[in-house]
Amino acid sequence: MESLDAGAVLRRGFNYSSPAGLDDLRELFVDRFATCAVHVDDTLVTGGALGALDLALRALLRDRPAARLVVLEPTYREALGIAKAIGLPVVAWSKLAGVLSRDDVVYVVSTFNNPDGRTISAAERDNLAAAIVEADAALIEDAAYDLLAAVSADQVPGVCATVTQRRGNAWALRLMSFSKTVVPGARVCVVEGSARALAAMRTVKFDFGTSPVACALVAELVRDPRTLDRHLALIRERLGRGRAAADQAFRAWDRPPSVVGAGYFLWLPSSHVSSTEAAVRATAVGVRVSDGAPFFVDHRPTHLRLSVAWEPAERIHEACLRLEESVAAPKNLLEETS
Ligand SMILES: Cc1ncc(COP(=O)(O)O)c(C=O)c1O
Repeated sequence: MESLDAGAVLRRGFNYSSPAGLDDLRELFVDRFATCAVHVDDTLVTGGALGALDLALRALLRDRPAARLVVLEPTYREALGIAKAIGLPVVAWSKLAGVLSRDDVVYVVSTFNNPDGRTISAAERDNLAAAIVEADAALIEDAAYDLLAAVSADQVPGVCATVTQRRGNAWALRLMSFSKTVVPGARVCVVEGSARALAAMRTVKFDFGTSPVACALVAELVRDPRTLDRHLALIRERLGRGRAAADQAFRAWDRPPSVVGAGYFLWLPSSHVSSTEAAVRATAVGVRVSDGAPFFVDHRPTHLRLSVAWEPAERIHEACLRLEESVAAPKNLLEETS
């Protein structure tokens, strides 16, 4: 990072770029990060994964007015927010029992899901891909955390790669944002996918290449594989420290909770108190957590989402100790149930 000459990037004097985004970054993407793109034309750059989701869903709604967004719950809150903003109905995958229609668009965060940190198994990916291919449903795979999956054993084929392989004319996209691995403020995401889906997105993308300067910056930061690997290792190490500090604090609770997940977040059950109430109580003792309700289609207040990304391990430890009072049953209820 220190050796990066930002002045050199700016001195190149960027004009608008091709509408799909800076070729240099897209070429780098195809060489190093692609799972289904084989040519730069199979990619485009958007203002973050959120920009991609917004464009993709608007494009889909135009072609499929009866579209529904199908999500694996709990799901990324902002995806539900965009659907609401554009009037796209949402349904949970569990309610469909795997039966999709052609009007459906499946949204999945297959690695280190936000909020529960789950990585879906190879078998689950395969089932999902089979159902999508069979129904000719659309797919948006959000790969915001894929680069963090540490070793190649974690790298099972993505849903988008499987769908596009099995159905040549599929409507399928994979969003690889660099927000969680390089720099959120650049707002750079590279979208890869089927020709049909990319063509639909191009019809609604009018921004002269998003930000060519931000694309050039991201390209510089990820160009050297060894530097990127070291950087990713540092992120994993930091997340690991935060998670270990939280685990240690939870083990000290009267009734240690079972906390799941990996990646950036912890997903903590709040079974005695609604998570909405627990989040308010936590704020009162100086701990900021997210209420899990907005991560479910029906807003059930059963979990809290905790970030292990930004605070030092000692503060995470202290916060998780303090949280006990916010989510635990009152002492007399504990006595009755023990
Ligand atoms: C699953 C998921 N997708 C997308 C985003 C946002 O990505 P971007 O910053 O590229 O819009 C986040 C951010 O937390 C996320 O967790």
